[in-house]
Amino acid sequence: MPSSQPQPVAPSVRRQSAPHVAIAGATGAVGEEFLRVLAQRHFPIGKLTLLASARSAGKTLAFNGDDYTCEELTEDSFKDVDLALFSAGGSISKKFGPVAVDAGAVVVDNSSAFRMTDGVPLVVPEVNPEAITDANIGLGSDNVAGIIANPNCSTIIMLMAVTPLHRAVAVKRMVVSTYQAASGAGAAAMRELEQQTREALSEPGAVGEVKTQAIFPFQYAFNLFSHNSPMQPNGYNQEELKMVHETHKIWAQNENEKTAITATCIRVPVMRAHAESINLTFAHPLPEDEARRLLEQAPGVSLIDDRANNRFPMPLDATHRDDCYVGRIRRDLSQPGETGLDLFVCGDQVRKGAALNAVQIAELLLR
Ligand SMILES: NC(=O)c1ccc[n+]([C@@H]2O[C@H](COP(=O)([O-])OP(=O)(O)OC[C@H]3O[C@@H](n4cnc5c(N)ncnc54)[C@H](OP(=O)(O)O)[C@@H]3O)[C@@H](O)[C@H]2O)c1
Repeated sequence: MPSSQPQPVAPSVRRQSAPHVAIAGATGAVGEEFLRVLAQRHFPIGKLTLLASARSAGKTLAFNGDDYTCEELTEDSFKDVDLALFSAGGSISKKFGPVAVDAGAVVVDNSSAFRMTDGVPLVVPEVNPEAITDANIGLGSDNVAGIIANPNCSTIIMLMAVTPLHRAVAVKRMVVSTYQAASGAGAAAMRELEQQTREALSEPGAVGEVKTQAIFPFQYAFNLFSHNSPMQPNGYNQEELKMVHETHKIWAQNENEKTAITATCIRVPVMRAHAESINLTFAHPLPEDEARRLLEQAPGVSLIDDRANNRFPMPLDATHRDDCYVGRIRRDLSQPGETGLDLFVCGDQVRKGAALNAVQIAELLLR
């Protein structure tokens, strides 16, 4: 069963005063989660600036019991900002991320805009915190402003579960299939799933057709489909390729040591929290019990692996929680000896896949 949640940490602050934090995309699914995570973890905030599109200018959002008014994101939004948390989409990050850095801020970006850019650290704090130190980006006086990228949400959840095993016996090949929630596509996608479900159930007798279809190209309620990211000429969609390329960058693998990875990403009508089925091939044998022990000890990972009761991770276990939940841990009988393993993982991708991971990065910058 889920373990207790990690206790919020108040990081040691080297600055004289708490940073001025700006959130670009504050009204979105990730933006609103940022506000919850920052408050729950007692992140030190001297001043908070909430930014969104012109549509949201004047809207109020609550933080720590106070109301804050959203401003329109413009080129002038980052004056005196120390830390800018971006979750407003790739094109906004591309345009305004460098503006924030020029104004002296450190940017932690949730979009894919800079993830594969040379010199931009791509960080999961439990996996490769050293990437931040190496880049010398930080909030202290002897560090420099720059951009740090938050990986793709499916990549983060996968690597939370697989990295402890990879560190022990080296993963040679990884086959992953995802079951991705509506919230991964933002607040409007969540509203579409809810509305479609109402419409479908309003038809007497059978599950009927839906009228609302603005975000996804297909009916989402009572259905599932291949991930809606752009299809590439090689037959993979962009989400699948992100999982491949980002893993190689996060694990700092050179051309000769790259793990062979293939992914199939599917959108399922779950409101929140992604699930992933993962098949691994190791360079060295790893007994099932040893894999279980490694995962039990891994920070940010909890086990739900109860064969007797057929009780394994479900999206609802992970919803609004920090940890990634791992189960169905079993030797892959199709691979020789103890060189293959199957896993099933669930993680809240708005939280660990986005806002929490970015705030954990920001906490590392404060040390
Ligand atoms: N959802 C996830 O699980 C997840 C996980 C990892 C990464 N991400 C990434 O995080 C980013 C945000 O995702 P989301 O799910 O939070 O999306 P969302 O719910 O659609 O929110 C988008 C946010 O961006 C703002 N925005 C849109 N156009 C803007 C503009 N022209 N200028 C300023 N702000 C603008 C929106 O403001 P308005 O309300 O004013 O429109 C809103 O605050 C995306 O890059 C996404 O890929 C999301």
